[in-house]
Amino acid sequence: MKILVIGGGGREHAIVQKLKESKQETEIFVAPGNGGIGQIAKCINIKETNIDEMVNFAVNNNIDLVIVTPDDPLVIGMVDALESKGIKAFGPRSVAAVLEGSKSYAKAFMKRHNIPTARYKDFTSYYEAKEYLKQQTKYPLVIKADGLAFGKGVIIAQDKTTALETIKNIMLDRCFGKSGSKIIIEEFLEGIEISVMAITDGKIIRTLTSAMDHKRIYDNDLGPNTGGMGAIAPHPLYTKSLAKECNEKIFKPTIKGMLKEDRLFKGILYFGIMLTINGPYVIEYNCRFGDPETQVVLPLLDNDLLELILAVCDGKLAKVEVKQKAGSTACVIMASGGYPITYQKGYPIHGLEQAKTIPDLTIYHAGTIFDKDMSQFLTSGGRVLGVTAYATTLNDAIKKAYQGVKVISFKDGVYRSDIGRKTGVTNEHI
Ligand code: AMP
Ligand code: GLY
Repeated sequence: MKILVIGGGGREHAIVQKLKESKQETEIFVAPGNGGIGQIAKCINIKETNIDEMVNFAVNNNIDLVIVTPDDPLVIGMVDALESKGIKAFGPRSVAAVLEGSKSYAKAFMKRHNIPTARYKDFTSYYEAKEYLKQQTKYPLVIKADGLAFGKGVIIAQDKTTALETIKNIMLDRCFGKSGSKIIIEEFLEGIEISVMAITDGKIIRTLTSAMDHKRIYDNDLGPNTGGMGAIAPHPLYTKSLAKECNEKIFKPTIKGMLKEDRLFKGILYFGIMLTINGPYVIEYNCRFGDPETQVVLPLLDNDLLELILAVCDGKLAKVEVKQKAGSTACVIMASGGYPITYQKGYPIHGLEQAKTIPDLTIYHAGTIFDKDMSQFLTSGGRVLGVTAYATTLNDAIKKAYQGVKVISFKDGVYRSDIGRKTGVTNEHI
């Protein structure tokens, strides 16, 4: 089977690695891929949002299945374009990807279907938003650009001055471009965040192992938001009874609601959940695999991923059970110094061979290229590597991941030293 995976981060490396374990014989292409992915699949130099070129490549190379992973190509309709040429594609069509592509759609959808989420208002007029903010007394408030904004479109405003400045930046100065033509202002939810990804053919939904992301750059959740500095799975607070509650109040109503609104959702549906004292609330939907959650969730999946994906494409998920391995995983992201703001690229990465000798340790590449002349990997992005370990207990998985991190180095490299050890969450659970 000839497979094309769209994307080029650590998440895609984990997906390709898992596909390689399939019992079906596969030939895997990845566009654009990265240095690490290039060691196990063929990287194709096509931009992930270039629909025309991607469809042409798939047609000309007799690709049997395309897995569209990142948000942008999904939201702009890459699955629709592939399917219109008769190519099997994994991921939601654009009418369903709107759950991530438009936060105001997602919020109104949750309201219509009684799915717990923070109270909110949306605005297309800067002046109305400004008047609304002037009347608010309870801070922090959360301000969100409606459309995709490279994961940066959510601002938690601690006071009125910041809030007013934020809406000006988004709506008047258009710091996120068109995505800022509409904004959402919502109540701040206090609690613990849990990521749950589910695979669905639009009718049946099956969850994968829960996970915990670490979004801020510095230890103790300080500093600016990033694409994710590490993850663990399963999430220590995601108990069986909470899973049941989420299933009844969130997962099933979402799938049913989408079906009812003629927006059948097939692919991976990611639920960003805030566990509050009043129970679980949805903070966000993503229409795809999360990053870096995928790097910790897929190693715990005890299924042939390709078989699951094909079951979704054929609308036959009812016939397949999702099985999870026992044990835990931890992923520590090694990033370029200065990320997520400005950073240098092109530094040699040392110690990868030594790290490979540590059992149950996998290094997923995110921002790397392989320099053929020098025969070594160089840094090429903000997030460089996801050092991921598996162990029977979470504590051992964390220890082992850091053992890997300690032997790898590149100039100005940074990482968080508290992955999986958030105060109030894991300390008392491991
Ligand atoms: P997102 O870009 O939608 O993933 O949101 C980024 C982060 O903002 C989330 O992971 C939360 O930490 C935070 N966040 C978003 N909405 C809320 C909210 N209503 N209350 C508290 N935190 C929030
Ligand atoms: N880890 C959150 C995301 O993938 O958006």
